[in-house]
Parts: sequence; structure tokens; C-alpha cells
Amino acid sequence: MKLVTCGLPYANGKLHIGHMRTYIPADVYVRFLRMMNEKVIFICGSDCHGTPIVVNAEREGLKPEELVEKYHEHFLRVFKELAVEFDFFGKTTEKYHHERTREIVNRLIENGYVYSKEIELAYCESCKRFLPDRYVEGICPYCKTPARGDECDQGCGRHLEPGEILEPRCKICGNRAVFKKRTHYFFKLTAFQEFLKEYLSRVSGTENAINYAKEWVNNLRDWCITRDLEWGVKFPLDESLVLYVWVDAPIGYISFTEQLTNDWKKIWIDGEAEIIHFIGLDIAYHHCIFWPSMLKAAGYALPSAVVASGMVKVEGKTFSKSRGYVVWVEDEYLKASLNPDYLRYYIVNYTSHEKDLNFSWDTFKEKVNNEIIATFGNFLFRILSFAWKNFGKIKMEVDGEIMEKISMTRERIVEAIKKWEFKVATDAIMELASFGNSYFQNSKPWDLIKYDKDKAMKVVANALQLVKALVIFSYPVMPKSMEKIAKSIGLDVRTCSIDDVMKIDDEVVISKPEIPFEKIEDEEIEKLKKSLFDRFAEKPEISIEEFRKLDIRIGKILDAKKIEKSKKLLKLLVDIGDEKRQLVAGIAENHRPEDLIGKLVVVIANLKPAKIMGVESKGMILAADVGGKAVLLVPEKEVAAGTKVK
Ligand code: MSP
Ligand code: ZN
Repeated sequence: MKLVTCGLPYANGKLHIGHMRTYIPADVYVRFLRMMNEKVIFICGSDCHGTPIVVNAEREGLKPEELVEKYHEHFLRVFKELAVEFDFFGKTTEKYHHERTREIVNRLIENGYVYSKEIELAYCESCKRFLPDRYVEGICPYCKTPARGDECDQGCGRHLEPGEILEPRCKICGNRAVFKKRTHYFFKLTAFQEFLKEYLSRVSGTENAINYAKEWVNNLRDWCITRDLEWGVKFPLDESLVLYVWVDAPIGYISFTEQLTNDWKKIWIDGEAEIIHFIGLDIAYHHCIFWPSMLKAAGYALPSAVVASGMVKVEGKTFSKSRGYVVWVEDEYLKASLNPDYLRYYIVNYTSHEKDLNFSWDTFKEKVNNEIIATFGNFLFRILSFAWKNFGKIKMEVDGEIMEKISMTRERIVEAIKKWEFKVATDAIMELASFGNSYFQNSKPWDLIKYDKDKAMKVVANALQLVKALVIFSYPVMPKSMEKIAKSIGLDVRTCSIDDVMKIDDEVVISKPEIPFEKIEDEEIEKLKKSLFDRFAEKPEISIEEFRKLDIRIGKILDAKKIEKSKKLLKLLVDIGDEKRQLVAGIAENHRPEDLIGKLVVVIANLKPAKIMGVESKGMILAADVGGKAVLLVPEKEVAAGTKVK
């Protein structure tokens, strides 16, 4: 038996095409295994804890549980549309998950792998709270790039432990944080170095993840597993703390299995199944270092393989929601009514699973139009139409050569799938379709039929056997489309085994075939490209001359008033030296008008005047955008209103 899991989507945002590189290949793999008569369980669920969820819920004006539910529903919808069919899709907020997590953590404690230690943590004196993970931003101690509390996301990519970040600032109020002592709990990761070395030498999966992990093993540090937060699984030894989200999230693999089957102990304790984790390379550390050590420490079974995909980029850029480098699955792909099977094929066939995948709408269109439609779909439709028009019912006499070709393709596919080489497998399918096209073209059954109907029927029988093989081989990749096509040759492909490609029916009755795939039009792709590029926040380089066109000055706020019916806007009167200007600023959410009077600010004085909610605004004041909230830029010391800024 095999248990296949996917990295749990974080219930903090919508799915983008990058995420699908975990879910689609895993679903394709599971469908192939089932066709190869293996017993497989396929598990996933929403990852619901951690600081980003609390921070985002606060921002969206929702309770964390409401935010999580919203995205959980979104995941279920998108997976259904894309035919990613888990046997169970759970949620880490459920009671069963909390119970299993606490049971495992208690075992870590009983087995002596957890200790407490006083550490210095970022603390915000104005919010009166410790600042775990995403509540704090500062500078990475390793590469000195701006970083988040738990991860150097824009620099060296390191995982940061609590207390490590330099120059911490509170993400909520923007104030400088102080360091304050607090007792936290650590997992003795360093005790697992030898174990990990041995484990990593035998675990199977893709080399990318395992090779990285082998390097990481030489630099282990004990791991802080608790956080100052309400939202999460309570830490058994101190209920004022919760467990770090990366402790409870992978335990979801276990708790979800438990919900699905009574066999869960055989899988997770007795080690009677192969456990295979599908993830992206970004979370290889967690799956190759933290997770096996935790399982080992708790006396649970170890995963047999970690299959890590390369990262998806978009038009050459690393995914970044804040910078707009992202393609949304539901809002863009599905809403444009693009066939879900196209995306499935594109993701598994674009490049080897371990390599990065650079998504672009142009390559997407080309692959779909040239491969799925011109090669594959064209062959299927051509054969089925010819057979239907000329015969309707075909006596199946198939040449040994054709069967040999099918059999070889089957071997190649099976071998490739076992090694997670989805591209090799799907290339083999496309090659068989090309072979079919040339066979049919060269045999000229449209001529034969005029003088030798039997011979023509033989050509059609050969081609139909190829059609059947292609439908079965590509069902795991393009399930919905293949189900439809299979019907026109009277086949229920959902119940087929891969060996059925070698079975020859006595006769095949053809029903009227439908065009299997729709071509993607240029206009459609241009629309999608435009909506992507419009979002790219990247700004072009400008010359010093262009910069000098800006009239930037120091202004002094003389008066400030609320604008009726607006939560965000204030009307300001600002002295800019030679004149008093009225301007509108979106700063009302975190500034009281009376506090602003007398303040010095930075003003762009030559911005084209505009009316905002009916109020005239001539100029703009500058502020840092801290998670949507304005933090005003102010001069270092008192200077006169009207002073030039350059
Ligand atoms: N919640 C964690 C996983 C916990 S597993 C116990 C997480 N969530 S995620 O929503 O950020 O990502 C979900 C899956 O999508 C992960 O397998 C992740 O590796 C994958 N990907 C997310 N963005 C990706 C790309 N841009 N490219 C490829 N895969 C990426 O991580
Ligand atoms: Zn760094």
C-alpha cells in the first residue's frame, strides 16, 4: 500500500499556478498507480495555523476561523475543477488534529527531546505583546537583507529562529520593538544528526531535495517549537503558548489519514505502507530535516520518499503576491474557461519535475495548440471521424508491430512514473500520437477504401488500437477529456488498468465523435497576458532628469479634517513655503486629525490636481506603506516649510 500526501495549502490565500505543481503531479501519479493496480491513499488538507493567518484575518476584518473557512472552501472548489481528487481533505483546526498533535508532542517530551530556555524576543511596547514570526520585520542576521521574523524571504532564504532578527519592528503599528526575555521550548534537533545522515542516505524521492538536505544536516540547530499566540495548538506544558505551525502542519498527514481509515496505525506506526510526500522545493527543509526527526523522536514510521518539484516562476520572476508576479487559478485560469486538462498537461510536461518551471501565457498557448491539439487531439479526432463515417463498426485485427509499439510505450511510461519523471512519461504519449499520425497518413486509408475496403478497415483497426492506448495512457493526465473521448469507442476509462492497452476487442462500435479540444485563440491569451503585466509592480529605470521633474518640498500641516463618508481620507491644509495647499491624504485609518497639526511632512507639489471624493487635492504627501497602513515620512530635524527635497 502507498500513502501519497501533498504539502498542505496554507489557508491564507487563493491558489496560484505555483501551488498546482504540488497537487497536479501528485494527482497524476496517484491515478497512474491506481491504473497499475496499486492500492493508494491520497491525502491533503488546509494548513490553518500560524501568524500570517492571524495577521491577515485582522487586516480583512475577519476572525481567523472565518478566514480559514473561506480559503478551505476555495481549495475544495479549485481542486474539484482541476480533477485533483483527494480521498480526504482535512483541516488542521479540527479537534482530531489538535489531539493527534498534542499526543505526538507529549511523546517528544516524554522521550526527552524537548527543553525550555529563556530567550530574548522582539516585544512591542505600544502593542504590549511579543512579536512572533510574521508580526515582526527587520534585518536578516546572515545576509543583512530586510526579512520577516521567521524567514529571510527576499535574501538568503534562511529559516530564522525566534529572537534572531535584527532591528525588529512591529508589523502592526510599525514601531521599533525591544528585546525582552521569555521562556520558550525547544526540540533537540541537534540530537538527530547521525539519524538524519543515515535516513537521507536511504530515503527515496527526487535528488534536488535530498541533496540539499544532506548539506543542511551539517548545520543543525535546536528548533524553537512554541510561540506567543492564541491561535494554534496549545503547547501541553504551558497553555499560554501554542506550537509553531510547522510542528502541527505535517502532523496533518497523520491526523487526516486517521480520519479516513482504521488502517492508519499500520501506515504511521507499523510502517507497513510506503509514505510519499509531494512538496515544492521551498519546503524541503521542513520535510527532510524537521519532519523525519520529529517522527523518529515520537516513535512513528518514516516517509519512504520526498518528491519535491522545482519552483514555478512567472515570466521569469519568482512568485510574489505583493509584487503581482502571480497567476491565480480560479480568478484567471478557470474564469477564462480554459480546459483544466490543459493546465494539467502543461505542468507535468513542461520540464522535468525537479527543475524550475517558468510559466508564461505564450508557452502555455504554444504547448496546448501544438501538442495537445495539433498532435494528440488531431489524431484522435481524425481516426474516430474516419472510422465513424466509413464503418461505424470495426472488426479489430491489429498488427503485431502496432502492439509492439504500444507495449514499448507502456514500459516507458511505467518506468518513468515510478521515478516521478512525468515529462518522460507524457513525452512517450505524444510520441505515440505522432507515430499514429504518420502511420495513418502513410497508409492512406481514404484511397484504400475506394478499392479495398478490408484493407482500409485493417488500417482503421490499427489506428483505433492506438487511440484506445492513448486514451488509457493519458487518462491520469487529462481525466475529464479522456473520459469523454473514451465513450465514443464504448470504453469506461475510469475502470481501466494500464494493461488493458494490450487487450484487443473483437470489434469496436464507434459513436459520433465530438471535437475533443478547443484551440486557444490569440486574443484570449493577449487578454490574460495584459492582466498579468498590468499587475507587475516593477517600475522602469528613470534618468536623473526625470527625477528632477518632481517638485518635492517640506510642508507643514496647518489644518486637518475628516472627509465625510470616508474612513480613509483626510483633508489637509499644508504650508509649502510660497503658498498654502489643500490636499487629500489616505491616512485617516491610523491618524487623528488633531495629532497632525504642526507636523512636518514631505509633499510632491507639482502633482496634477485631482478631485478625490469631491474634494480638490493639489499634491501628495509621502508615507511608507506598512501592510496597507500609512507611516508618514518626516524630516530628520526641524526645517522651514517649503525647503526643497532632492
Ligand atoms: N502550508 C505549507 C505546507 C505545510 S506541509 C505540512 C505551505 N503552504 S503553501 O500554500 O505555501 O504551499 C502549498 C504547496 O505549494 C507546497 O507544496 C509548496 O511547496 C507549493 N508551492 C507554493 N508556491 C510554489 C511555487 N511558486 N512553485 C512551486 N511550488 C510552490 O508551504
Ligand atoms: Zn538572509
